[in-house]
Amino acid sequence: MPDRYQCLRALLGDDRLLTAEDDLAHYGRDWTRQYPPAPGAIALPATVEEVQELVRWARREGVAIVPSGGRTGLSGGAVAMHGELVVSFERMNRVLDFDPLDRTLTVEAGVVTEAVQQAARERDLFYPVDFGSRGSSQIGGNIATNAGGIKVIRYGMTRDWVAGLKAVTGTGELLELNRGLVKNATGYDFRHLLIGSEGTLGLVVEATLRLTDPPPPLAVMLLAVSGLDALMGVFAQAREHLTLTAFEFFSEAALKHVLARGGQRPFEGEAPAYVLVEYEAPDEHATEAALAVFEQGVESGAVVDGVLAQSQAQASALWHLREGITEAVAPRTPYKNDVSVRIARVASFLADLQSLFAREYPDFEVIEFGHIGDGNMHISVLRPEAMAMDAFTRACAHVTGKLSDVLARHGGSISAEHGVGLLKKPYLACTRSAHEIALMRQVKRVFDPDGILNPGKLFDPEPVSVGHDA
Ligand code: MLT
Ligand code: ZN
Repeated sequence: MPDRYQCLRALLGDDRLLTAEDDLAHYGRDWTRQYPPAPGAIALPATVEEVQELVRWARREGVAIVPSGGRTGLSGGAVAMHGELVVSFERMNRVLDFDPLDRTLTVEAGVVTEAVQQAARERDLFYPVDFGSRGSSQIGGNIATNAGGIKVIRYGMTRDWVAGLKAVTGTGELLELNRGLVKNATGYDFRHLLIGSEGTLGLVVEATLRLTDPPPPLAVMLLAVSGLDALMGVFAQAREHLTLTAFEFFSEAALKHVLARGGQRPFEGEAPAYVLVEYEAPDEHATEAALAVFEQGVESGAVVDGVLAQSQAQASALWHLREGITEAVAPRTPYKNDVSVRIARVASFLADLQSLFAREYPDFEVIEFGHIGDGNMHISVLRPEAMAMDAFTRACAHVTGKLSDVLARHGGSISAEHGVGLLKKPYLACTRSAHEIALMRQVKRVFDPDGILNPGKLFDPEPVSVGHDA
């Protein structure tokens, strides 16, 4: 049988062109588990030129490409189910340059988030984008999804830290976007178009990231609150008195799952919800301010208990209660919602959400948590153990349709930070108008005329012609 990948083997060698079953299964999916992986092959390029060659080959052969970073995505954006060529960036993992005057770090796409943070620390600077999957997620994937995480309230999204970008388009051209400039008023900024485009417009191969001053010492306080309706009142108080670096909430149901795997309950009794407040604490005034937030909360009835971490170890233990949720519920193959509304709408949205879920999910366990301080809520619905995956996904998809209506009423988004991928594709129209989606399709055609870059993610491809000579 002719080897379809002969040309790629010649380019990469056998050790960087993988076709073994376990490799296909490993590289063919992300952290979503409902999509069976079935890629045709895995390519591990080591240079930008090799990525360009791969794209030219895919274009000639009419093969779709799925870009692959740390595969920690939660919307199926990096899943390959139809014989695609997965292009993994794990061999492109070098820090290329640091400029102390510009305070930028230039890295290849496959550098892991934690390695970027570490490289910044080694230079007495700080890369502030942070989330639970920091040890596996890669910078190229973070850019492709405009990753957010736990510090958005203070530092913004990945987008805010990308000073320059190199990406290979669907025709194999290399784009060098913005080249680290602070000011650049020369028309369309394709850098920002590529950020969050989920690999549908170009393959990110290199990024120049901005760094900043390290934060002052941080302190962590965990508050038990009387209910979800009390959260935003506590947030308003905390934001008024403290410089917040994180304001995260989770429900008692979420906490129970984390504690089932170890660790100590932070308070004597149970509360309906908890908020983890992290704030800058350069001096004792911050501690006084935090205690005042606690006391005001108690007086108003919103806060029922609280604990202020007295050491780094205690702070990490409190953080674990929040960051351990995803892993703790993973064995139950949760159906994940990742929604956002404007901060001003969170309280009324949460109220509508509670009645929707009480009505629609009476028999499922629903785990609520997330970055409430920036308007982003994660709602993970757990599959009853006896229920088949298909039936479960269908039931959840039905409720997500209704959730989309609630979101549309509140002017919210069906994906705050995980991306649309496959999972949220049917609901894109709840956040983006038909005209916007039509424009997105046209933009894709410009960057990727043959529709070979991550087709079927974000929106379904229109019929395309493939097999051109490059
Ligand atoms: C988180 O904030 O923990 C993540 O976005 C992951 C998740 O939703 O499970
Ligand atoms: Zn999150």
